[in-house]
Amino acid sequence: MFKEPDVFSVLQTAKYFLKSKGLLEYKFDAEALLSFLLQIKCSKLPFLYNQILSIEQLRQFERYILRRSKREPVAYITGYTGFMGFEFKVNKKVLIPRPETELLVEAVLKMAKKQTELKILDLCTGSGCIAISLAKIGEFKTITAIDIDKFALKVAKENAKINDIESINFIKSNLFTNLEENKFDIIISNPPYVSDEEYAFLEKDLMYEPKHALVAKKDGLFFYTEIAKNAKKFFNNNGHIFLELNSNKVNQIKQLFVGNNFEDIEIIKDYSGLSRILKAKILI
Ligand SMILES: C[S@@+](CC[C@H](N)C(=O)[O-])C[C@H]1O[C@@H](n2cnc3c(N)ncnc32)[C@H](O)[C@@H]1O
Repeated sequence: MFKEPDVFSVLQTAKYFLKSKGLLEYKFDAEALLSFLLQIKCSKLPFLYNQILSIEQLRQFERYILRRSKREPVAYITGYTGFMGFEFKVNKKVLIPRPETELLVEAVLKMAKKQTELKILDLCTGSGCIAISLAKIGEFKTITAIDIDKFALKVAKENAKINDIESINFIKSNLFTNLEENKFDIIISNPPYVSDEEYAFLEKDLMYEPKHALVAKKDGLFFYTEIAKNAKKFFNNNGHIFLELNSNKVNQIKQLFVGNNFEDIEIIKDYSGLSRILKAKILI
């Protein structure tokens, strides 16, 4: 693929190639993959434009670019992504943390401030990005994080280690099933919420992510229904719930919570103006 072995030419060729394959973020993708290969920050690339890459580096970069041209997300190729300013390991067993989900974490931090004694439950933790960010920034002492998938939990535990967090209790659980008598002040979740119909129209990049992390039965509403119905038993007085929303189904989701002893329901929009977060208080 690469005729000239210097960084500038290699980068140009990679960008043209990705653009020709229809990738909109071709510039970012090529730069992110080359800086990962060279183990430097993207901003340092221009300082190395004249550097000559070795045959092995050229081959490896070509492999990365070919994988990306088939729509494999950059984060799965590099094995890492950023969330709330921290680094998280990712693989194909976990959803890649999204910028919208940072709003969910920020909403909890805004309400809970530094009440570090609040007990928090993160349902459907995946990579652990929500629970770990809350532990890092909010310094909450008691966080439980559950996921049904043992491979996702392995990644979440590794991420806790990478980020120097030892306090999170990770549990393998089908939603609330293995939580016994535990009670929490805050329940937070970014559950699977894509309907089968919506899944058929998703971008090709998303097909690399675990389907069970995206798709939910009952037209995408299964997890919202279960959480609305069962969360009450797991709340202390004055408990709050924070959920990431399927922005196509906001009214239906809201009704599920109104009908199940929640009040002060607030919907927070994301930066695209879409309704993205539900915050509500439990009535006990
Ligand atoms: C949308 S991902 C969210 C991952 C992470 N919290 C985030 O925001 O990036 C949903 C997660 O729910 C998990 N999951 C799916 N069904 C579940 C269930 N019945 N009980 C618990 N976790 C489940 C999946 O394994 C996946 O890790």
